[in-house]
Amino acid sequence: MSKDRNQDPILTMRNVSVNFPVKGGLPFLKKGIIQAVTDVSLKIKRGETFGIVGESGCGKTTLANAMIGMVKPTSGEVIFNGKNLYKIKRDDFKKTRRHMQMIFQDPFSSLNPRFNVYQIISEPMFIRGEDDEETMKERVVELLKLVGLSPNDLYRYPSDFSGGQRQRLGIARSIILNPEFLVCDEPVSALDVSVHAQILNLLTDIQKQMKLSYVFISHNLAVVKNVCDSMIVMYLGKIMESGNSETIFKNPLHPYTHALLAAVLDTTIRKDRKQVILKGDIPSPINPPKGCRFWQRCPYAMEGCKTIPPENIEVEKAHVVACHHVNGFPEIELPKDYKNKVNMEEDS
Ligand SMILES: Nc1ncnc2c1ncn2[C@@H]1O[C@H](COP(=O)(O)OP(=O)(O)O)[C@@H](O)[C@H]1O
Ligand SMILES: [Mg+2]
Repeated sequence: MSKDRNQDPILTMRNVSVNFPVKGGLPFLKKGIIQAVTDVSLKIKRGETFGIVGESGCGKTTLANAMIGMVKPTSGEVIFNGKNLYKIKRDDFKKTRRHMQMIFQDPFSSLNPRFNVYQIISEPMFIRGEDDEETMKERVVELLKLVGLSPNDLYRYPSDFSGGQRQRLGIARSIILNPEFLVCDEPVSALDVSVHAQILNLLTDIQKQMKLSYVFISHNLAVVKNVCDSMIVMYLGKIMESGNSETIFKNPLHPYTHALLAAVLDTTIRKDRKQVILKGDIPSPINPPKGCRFWQRCPYAMEGCKTIPPENIEVEKAHVVACHHVNGFPEIELPKDYKNKVNMEEDS
């Protein structure tokens, strides 16, 4: 690998949108379109951990699937290691795809209960069909040790393991083909809090050992704060705030980022700003708002926010925010029925 190549991003997305048609319904009803991801552009540096944060349903998994060639974007481009994922030939795609793997949120449903440990971990190698039984077994034993399980576990079944141990199996399986790029989709959110740190430490160790680039998805900003170099904050399919994680945590600007911070941290990060507390669920991504996607839940929303989409503004080095108020948040008088209207609590 040349020096220059090392400095190129491992993955670039240009204006990626993913729409899903709304299936079913009655024939006379107009079918809608779910805008799961809209106009996302980003760059992931080689060797870094890139965080994707946002509430459930904001498009994190869909975006990650588009990154690894699993969901074809409706428009836009995904470039991995200089290759346009959705334009290259099938053979080339297969070779490229091998370098990208994913760890899933739920280690209970993502492991086949009828496969034993050996079969589960070796499956990607088995499908590739290039290695004999002995080589595969050696590799699985090596990985079991790496993820903190015992070689004696080889012929046990997923039901014999705890949630944390199952996630270790999932991790072993995802790295068996020596990937360069690993998407961890909420890897600890289905697990008992007591094992979060162990699994996160294991992922960090593996990243160092194998020099991996990570995409780390979470709805919890506190987790992202500890593990990510750069990050994006998503809401209803769009990026609200992005950049260097440390910079964003020092100087969070988007009201939605504030709301996520308030949800996980007790302290107010910016004393000069109102604390925004989210209640209820994210609205439906069918017919999302024309202007800022967050305006319905934003205490700072003005008339213009409803109709004019905010541009991405680079407010400082490695810090981009899409908000009309980015140059100063007004002290606004909130209407009395505000809490009911926007489904949110406000606490200044
Ligand atoms: N295959 C699909 N078909 C239709 N809608 C989908 C599909 N996958 C995701 N969605 C919808 O797209 C939106 C974003 O989903 P997802 O990417 O799973 O969000 P997250 O991972 O942030 O929870 C949701 O409204 C979800 O229902
Ligand atoms: Mg998800």
